[in-house]
Order: sequence, then C-alpha cells, then structure tokens
Amino acid sequence: MPVPLTVAAVEALRAQTPGVKHTTHFNHAGSSLPSEATLEAMRAHLWREATSGPMEAGVAAREQIEQARTLASRLLNARPAEIALTTGNSPAWGGAFAALGTWRPGDRILVARHEWGGNLATMRLTAQRAGASIEAIPSDDSGAVDPQALEAMLDERVRLIALTWMPANGGLINPAAAIGHVARRHGIAYFIDAAQSAGQLPIDVTQVGCDVLTSVGRKALRGPRGTGLLYVRQDFLPRLTPAFVDTYSAPLDTNGEPVLRDDAARLEPSELAPALRCGLANALQEALDIGLDNIRARIDDIAQTLRTELAQIDGVTVLDQGRERSGLVSFNVAGQEAAAVQRTLAAQGVSIGSNGVAYTPFDMNARGLDTIARASVSYLTTTAEIDTLLDRVRGLIR
Ligand SMILES: Cc1ncc(COP(=O)(O)O)c(C=O)c1O
Repeated sequence: MPVPLTVAAVEALRAQTPGVKHTTHFNHAGSSLPSEATLEAMRAHLWREATSGPMEAGVAAREQIEQARTLASRLLNARPAEIALTTGNSPAWGGAFAALGTWRPGDRILVARHEWGGNLATMRLTAQRAGASIEAIPSDDSGAVDPQALEAMLDERVRLIALTWMPANGGLINPAAAIGHVARRHGIAYFIDAAQSAGQLPIDVTQVGCDVLTSVGRKALRGPRGTGLLYVRQDFLPRLTPAFVDTYSAPLDTNGEPVLRDDAARLEPSELAPALRCGLANALQEALDIGLDNIRARIDDIAQTLRTELAQIDGVTVLDQGRERSGLVSFNVAGQEAAAVQRTLAAQGVSIGSNGVAYTPFDMNARGLDTIARASVSYLTTTAEIDTLLDRVRGLIR
C-alpha cells in the first residue's frame, strides 16, 4: 500500500541508495541513482550468468526478466502485450517511427515546440527523403503546446502528431491528454516521448489517448542505463511493420515466411541484457510500491522550493515555463555559460546538467536561448541538498 513520502520515508529510501552518500545529485533527468536492491538484482543475474552460463541463466530467470514488461504495463495502465522493452528512448521512438512505413510528398508531421532533438533528427531524415514537412505547433502564453492551435493546423495530409510530454530543457509539462483528444477526434497517429515523465507522474495511456509512448529506465524510474520502454496501443499495432526483424520478432514458418509477432514485442530485438531487465523490474516495482501520486507530489514540492530559492539569487534567472511543472529546473547565471556552471559545480561534488540548442531546437530558438543549466530533482532530494546547491550557485556569483 503506497505511503506518503514523509521526511522519514525519504530518509529510509536514501538509506537504501548508496549514491546519495557520495554525490549531491541534481541530474536525475540525465540519469538517477539506483537503489541497493536494483543493483543487487543486476549483480545476482550477472553471477548466475558467470556460474551457470549466460544462455542457461537467461532461461532460468525468464520469469524475473519478463516481470519488467508486466510492471511497465502496470505503470502505464496498459496490457503486457502492448509493451516492448528496448535499450533507451531513441530506439523505442525511432523503431516505432520507422515502422510507420512509407512517407509521401506533402505528408505533414506536427510537433510541439519542445520535441526532443533526436526524434526531430529521425523525422527529418525521413521527411527530407520523402518531401514531407515537419511543422511546430504554436505554444500558448505559458509556453505549453496549444491544443486549439493544433486543431487549426489539421488537414487530411497530417499523418503524425508528436509530443514531448516533459521537455528536456525545463520544468514545463505539456497537456498530453488535451492533445490526445484532438488526435483521437481526427484519427491521426499520436506519439508521446515520455522519457522524462515515466516515474515522475501517474500515466494512464488510455486517458492520454496516445498510439505510441516511449520512455527510459534510467531517469525518474531509477532503473539501469541501457533500458527503455515502448508502449503501442493494441489496435494501432497492425499499422507498424518493423524496419527490420529477427528470429524473435518475426520467426520463419515452415515455408520460410516471416511471421510477425502479434504483440508490441514485434519491435523488440531478440538479444537483450537480462541483468539490466532484472534491475529495471526492481526499479519499476519500487516506483509502484511508493506510488506515482506520492512521487509526483514530492517532486512538485521540492522542485518548487528550488525554483523559488534560485530565483531569489541576484544574477540567476529561472527559465521554466508552463503552468504545471516537473522536477526539471532550468536557469542561467548571468555572464556564465551553462556548461561552465556545470563544470564548476561538478568540481565541488554537485552534479547538474546543461543543454544546448540541439536537444530542443524549436523551443530554444523560439525563446532566443543558446544554453540552459538544469538542476533536476528526484523524490530522494532533500532540503539539505538544495541548500548545498544554492550555496554553490551563490559562490559562482560572488
Ligand atoms: C525528452 C527526452 N527524450 C529523449 C531522450 C533521449 O533518451 P535516450 O538517450 O534514452 O535515447 C531524452 C534524454 O535526456 C529526453 O530528455
């Protein structure tokens, strides 16, 4: 039964997280710190591989490995058959996009201004070859994507709407369900990049109305690097033909014909890292045990505290937009490159991120930003850690 994240509950979770003793981590949006139990799940499987043989260990641990799919489906309110497990967000997103098939001249893709640069690069390569266009949907006065502006752009040539739910360059949360309503009403394919969202807020794919949703294990979920999730709505699956297949996603029948799997795993490679899957399963279980409502409430609270305090430092500008905010806090220090701020803080044992234009080009260009410093919190973040960060940032200005 989920329990609220009181100070005592957070302390108990920190006591089971080795990393917090070694680093002041404000780069949870880059990759978070795993629990001891998640590390142990991976270690245990590597040991099984070393002692029984990797293939044999994989067979013996099949149930545990498959747990990640079941738990991911629970996290998203989906069915296990609607989940493929990948090595990151980009393989999930790119795999689903490539499976959409041929694009024609004049086809249109509409994206929110905050679309992840890797997804844009993937779309551009295809669009340029085919003569299709990629257009940014205007934002409202808060900076969030505007569902009415989207509606006004639609015609029969729009084949895809793509949204990055929580942008990489700041605290804004886009109205994913409102965009989903428009996409559903018009029967247009709708992809969501939830790389920053899964593990930060409750997600119900049936309520959001997306056809495809992608995420990663290493960020808010505190799973291992090299893990990712791909949700494909069951009724949408027949529209996806993978760009390539293997003996798992499309085994050959007795006539030598490939038979595509009838679940989302048709987009999953046969080769996998079982130890990472075991770690991911543990991390997913932990997030579900804590409860996504509890996680959301705690992150919102702690990020808001950080924003308010940062904004009070002379020479610091907090850059977050949107009415609803995530655990990503973006800011700049007057006269200092964000990468230099990141380096200086790192030398003092405080990790933050810094982003340039390439990660979120439409949004950075629209706002005239070259770089942003990014301090991202987790439910593990304490007020003492915030005080340390603020102290180091003040030190940059003196
Ligand atoms: C919104 C968003 N999408 C996609 C990615 C890329 O994820 P991956 O490196 O797993 O492909 C990131 C990484 O930070 C991100 O913030």
